[in-house]
Amino acid sequence: MNPSPKNFGAPFAWGAATSPYQIEGKEGRGPSVWDAFCEMPGKVFGGHNGAVACEHFSRWREDVGCFRAAGWNAYRFGISWSRVCPDGSPMPDQRGLDYYDRLVDALLEAGIEPWITVYHWDMPLEMHRRGGWLNRDCADWMAELASAVAGRLAGRVRKWFTMNEPQCFIGLGYYRGVHAPGVSLDLGSVLAAGHHALLGHGMTVSALRAADAQNQVGWAPSGVIAIPATTDPADVEAAREACFNMSGDNPLGRNEPNPLWANSWWSDPVFLGHYPEDALQRFGAAVPAIRTHDMETIRQPLDFNGAIIYTGSVVRAGHHGPEVVPLPDGFPVSSLGWPVFPESMYWGPKFLSERYPCPIVIAENGVALREWPDVQGGVADSARIDFLHRYLSEFAKWRAGGGDARGYFHWSAMDNFEWSEGYKDRFGLIHVDFQTQKRTLKQSAHWFAEVIRENGARFFRTP
Ligand code: FCB
Repeated sequence: MNPSPKNFGAPFAWGAATSPYQIEGKEGRGPSVWDAFCEMPGKVFGGHNGAVACEHFSRWREDVGCFRAAGWNAYRFGISWSRVCPDGSPMPDQRGLDYYDRLVDALLEAGIEPWITVYHWDMPLEMHRRGGWLNRDCADWMAELASAVAGRLAGRVRKWFTMNEPQCFIGLGYYRGVHAPGVSLDLGSVLAAGHHALLGHGMTVSALRAADAQNQVGWAPSGVIAIPATTDPADVEAAREACFNMSGDNPLGRNEPNPLWANSWWSDPVFLGHYPEDALQRFGAAVPAIRTHDMETIRQPLDFNGAIIYTGSVVRAGHHGPEVVPLPDGFPVSSLGWPVFPESMYWGPKFLSERYPCPIVIAENGVALREWPDVQGGVADSARIDFLHRYLSEFAKWRAGGGDARGYFHWSAMDNFEWSEGYKDRFGLIHVDFQTQKRTLKQSAHWFAEVIRENGARFFRTP
């Protein structure tokens, strides 16, 4: 590889991401576990839900026009399982598939490559009633969904993510109860559900490759990113350890009610074919029953690792192991309170790719703000531009040092339903007025279009 690249290289995917429940609305689909969750009192800010969202189900043509105007060459979106399997039977409904068929054609016509996420959380309610991820069969149901979708789109869609953030739909959904299905189960049940999700991932990889041998497949996990307090090797080692250690001594996991944020619980099985030893010891009797061949099913070769990076924590070497450095007062945070740590886009890809050698695609990165259109009708989200500038500079630094970077998807394409946070915080490059459904490209979308035109060259110039 070129030792001093002048830009992100080619081909490089530039675009933004969405998920079906967050944008489509409920027209034309069956009930999903998220519809039911939103009806549970007190679970979602303001009692909001995804029934209307961005009405993307009927406005997709206009939206593809906006994406084209925004200059993207790629768009990451998810398949609504409750649209393809509306009554919860794993047999696909052709009308659901027709919708994605048309959307894919429109994207290709606009010069935008579709990158599809098979599972981004909207399980059909009926499947949840049959046990959801607690039922081992759910892995087969997911693989059937993948076969149906990839079969219909074969030859037109070549890039796939199996699933989005098992840390969230299992950890937040079944352990902390703050995401659908909104239950707080014992650790043993949660880990069993997680094991089934990992099986679903592995079986989906096989199904996608069986549908078309040219398909390129990755997944999109999240996890803690530790940033070394200094470049002293002891601090770097402490940060690396904090990203993967699951022993219970990890300062990033010790007090966390969801111990599953550590990257290794999920990514070790996927890339290395086994659960991390320290976690097996820590979880003891709660560790799920692992059948013969399960780990082979889960460990499938992947074409890319889709990293989801928003924030991080600073870690230093203490006398008794890694320590978290507290944030100074007034440290910059997003409107959701997530600290702004651009360095996570250097150290995250670095630590992840060292342990799991695989090209990196940033599957999500972005910032929540609460901006509004100004009197002239534009949306001046200068904080988002600054955020992107800082984060992309760090990602470029990683690539310049030899990192294998293949794409960057901004979260999100447009403002949408932010799960338990409802509609109050905005992540989009495209502003959505939820009263009128009017779309407006924000200033950040115009700035990002320039970055794409030059393939990120500005981040590689030495000052
Ligand atoms: C991620 C989710 C995505 C979005 C962003 C802000 O955890 O994958 O759907 O909500 O956070």
